[in-house]
Amino acid sequence: MGVQTGRPSEPITIAVVGCGQRGNAYARYTLREPAKCRIVAIAEPRSKTRALFASQYGVDSSLSFHKASAETIQTVGKRLADAVLIAVQDHMHAELVGAFAAQGYDILCEKPMATSIEHCLQIEAAVKKADIIFGMGHVLRYSPYTRAITDVVRSGQLGQLVNAQHIEPVGHWHFAHSYVRGSWSKEAESSFSLMTKSCHDIDILCHWLSPDTPVHVSSFGGLQHFRKSSKPAEAGDATRCLDCTYEAQCPYSAKKVYLDRVASGQVGWPASPLVDGIPDIENITNALQNGPYGKCVYESDNDVCDHQVVNIQYASGATVSFTMIAYTTLICQRQTRLHFTHGEVTGDMNTFTVTDFRTGQKTVHRPPSEGGGHGGGDLGLMRTFVEAVRTRQQELLGTDVTDVLKSHLAVFAAEHSRKTRTVVDCVEFENAARSGS
Ligand SMILES: NC(=O)c1ccc[n+]([C@@H]2O[C@H](COP(=O)([O-])OP(=O)(O)OC[C@H]3O[C@@H](n4cnc5c(N)ncnc54)[C@H](O)[C@@H]3O)[C@@H](O)[C@H]2O)c1
Repeated sequence: MGVQTGRPSEPITIAVVGCGQRGNAYARYTLREPAKCRIVAIAEPRSKTRALFASQYGVDSSLSFHKASAETIQTVGKRLADAVLIAVQDHMHAELVGAFAAQGYDILCEKPMATSIEHCLQIEAAVKKADIIFGMGHVLRYSPYTRAITDVVRSGQLGQLVNAQHIEPVGHWHFAHSYVRGSWSKEAESSFSLMTKSCHDIDILCHWLSPDTPVHVSSFGGLQHFRKSSKPAEAGDATRCLDCTYEAQCPYSAKKVYLDRVASGQVGWPASPLVDGIPDIENITNALQNGPYGKCVYESDNDVCDHQVVNIQYASGATVSFTMIAYTTLICQRQTRLHFTHGEVTGDMNTFTVTDFRTGQKTVHRPPSEGGGHGGGDLGLMRTFVEAVRTRQQELLGTDVTDVLKSHLAVFAAEHSRKTRTVVDCVEFENAARSGS
């Protein structure tokens, strides 16, 4: 068990590791609820980003570190805070969770848990051994919208949930940003796109179906468009958008995605990850001339799927079908249909409609969102995590490390199915994973 945080009336102290997009998304909660939590230490290698974050959240320079690794955490040798937010890239999660857990920090780790089954199992073991509070960045679970749907599912008012259809429309330029040019474009450097983009979609589907468990999974998908063979002839030999005569017609133009936005004053995401500090015309132009975000989407070294379908059968016989697709105008506004024996729920992440077949009555629900990313899920997760740490109640999070591992195993099983063109038996898959075979 981690060191007690003392009286719940005192704010818990938090260290943030990785002060990029996600570190900021969670940290914002501390400014809304200073009586409950405060950030006391950070680690971030980008100096301007680190300085900006430190000044925004009032972190002392003596506790602003250049970077975190198992070695540096060991060197510090003592707890600097009650809890840590791990918001660095996917391949670093396992090492950092292991090192922080060993020192008794409660941990909120960004999704995905890790990039290999072996590392996910290591995280499960480290968290169990340390007996700490553990939260996972499955933010979809914690938005008011999802919580309201979960209440309908759990109430049983529409009978048994027999089938779910769920689409993750990534958004065409968003996909190009993150999965063609950005941090999640190469499987070897992060993971496959079903894992990096959609592990929380598979998680929410498993959550709605639980305590039912997945027994079979199949999946198909591939990289259809973002490759050299799809390059428009008019783009010729250009390898960067700023040198391309076809750029004005191209929906994936880096000039449109970044420069035009910054020129109109939009200096947050998607431009912010391109530079250290605040984006301006000069530094973004430089990034587009020299870095990966200025490359032609048909000339990048991406290899992850731009579309994937997953079918899951549950022990009760219930079924789920999921689609992750790059080519949409919607950006991550999941479209969901839940089919019950006595009614249905259809939702779009803002509103959902409940239809009862017995009465024919349709009720439209618009759960109020308090803002922030993922329909309020980012704030909802942070609020729940902080409360779990303050009161030492893992159950407030509605999940634990083994549950988190199980939904990740469903994602690994789906990818195994896609690669081997087989239907995967989920129980055998988990047994094999746990026995290391
Ligand atoms: N829950 C979600 O919906 C969601 C959405 C997007 C990303 N993510 C996940 O969140 C994590 C972070 O993604 P992001 O978009 O914030 O990336 P990011 O690149 O914006 O931020 C990561 C930060 O970590 C810093 N960093 C690198 N090495 C470090 C080290 N050794 N110690 C401390 N900091 C270090 C980088 O400089 C960067 O600022 C990833 O695992 C990603 O997959 C989750």
